[in-house]
Amino acid sequence: MIECANEEGIIHAVEALKSGKCIGLPTETVYGLAGNGLDPLAVARIFEIKQRPSFDPLILHVAEEYDLDRVVHSIPDSAHKLMQAFWPGPLTLVLPRQTTVPDLVTSGLETVALRCPRHPVAQEVLRRFDGPLAAPSANPFGRLSPTTALAVDAELGDRIALTLDGGPCEKGVESSILDCSSAQPRLLRPGALPLELLRDVMGEIVVPESNPVVAPGMLEHHYAPRTPLYVLSGTLDETGDLPGNTGLLAFGGNRLPGAAIVKELSQVGDLAEAAFHLFSYMRELDLSGVERIVAFEVPMDGLGRAINDRLKKASAGRVSWTGSAWSFVDR
Ligand code: TXA
Ligand code: MG
Repeated sequence: MIECANEEGIIHAVEALKSGKCIGLPTETVYGLAGNGLDPLAVARIFEIKQRPSFDPLILHVAEEYDLDRVVHSIPDSAHKLMQAFWPGPLTLVLPRQTTVPDLVTSGLETVALRCPRHPVAQEVLRRFDGPLAAPSANPFGRLSPTTALAVDAELGDRIALTLDGGPCEKGVESSILDCSSAQPRLLRPGALPLELLRDVMGEIVVPESNPVVAPGMLEHHYAPRTPLYVLSGTLDETGDLPGNTGLLAFGGNRLPGAAIVKELSQVGDLAEAAFHLFSYMRELDLSGVERIVAFEVPMDGLGRAINDRLKKASAGRVSWTGSAWSFVDR
């Protein structure tokens, strides 16, 4: 459903967001698929609606007067300078994060991407919502980013509460992303704010030679617990006990005998619920003192692909039951 971005439409949008739903939100770059950035379940819904094959970190959008200390740990001088020059606008800054930001937003990274959009409708919604909104572009995975409310509605209309119509996007390409978490700012994604303008303000900016658009979510091994995690291969009927002091990350009621601790991603097999729990349960098992973690794969549809992708990236290897013993194979 498309709603005009008048007083009534904005009230509806903020109500939907406050109740954990996702909406199509106009920004000056592209339309975003926005949800409460501090609510892991709302963030899990974003991944589900987009059908993203993996958990790429998301950008948190903030109002002009938002107190950034609520989500970032520290702001280096370089970032201050850039914010002063270009915010609100199409510039995303990667900064050290606060622990208040859900792992699902950052893909478990210690940094968070922040953007203060200039579109007046986005600003008004953010101000009234009074918190950060996570928002990737409002398209299903693999499709073009939408630059009109109609394009959002055509692709995602049946999966979101509403789309606010703020007119066609002024920029039409996504924001430029600059990593300011270390001493030397680095361009992670060229975007709607030209590098020349950034250099006018910042001087030196590193532009990585090869593919500058490598998302942390694409790395082979980027969110691993300290405790080795093994993903189960094959289907299992009867097995012997797991070796002593093994934690189990279960799904859909599946069990193995002998686990010291069991954390169940979703008893009823709901993939959004599983995604919602994934990072926090891995972390809990990691901190519990078990010697190894064994994880079931989940079905490869919807969010399942993302969950399995994250499990694989977090894993030290695979484990299988040979018929008479457990076999752990490091990768
Ligand atoms: O213009 C835009 O930026 C649009 C509008 C809706 O604001 N949003 C957008 O989001 O393009 P998305 O999800 O398509 O791109 C976010 C990208 C990720 O793919 C990743 O490369 C980068 O931002 N990113 C997010 N968090 C990061 C982090 N902590 N460190 C490095 N890169 C990060
Ligand atoms: Mg996108």
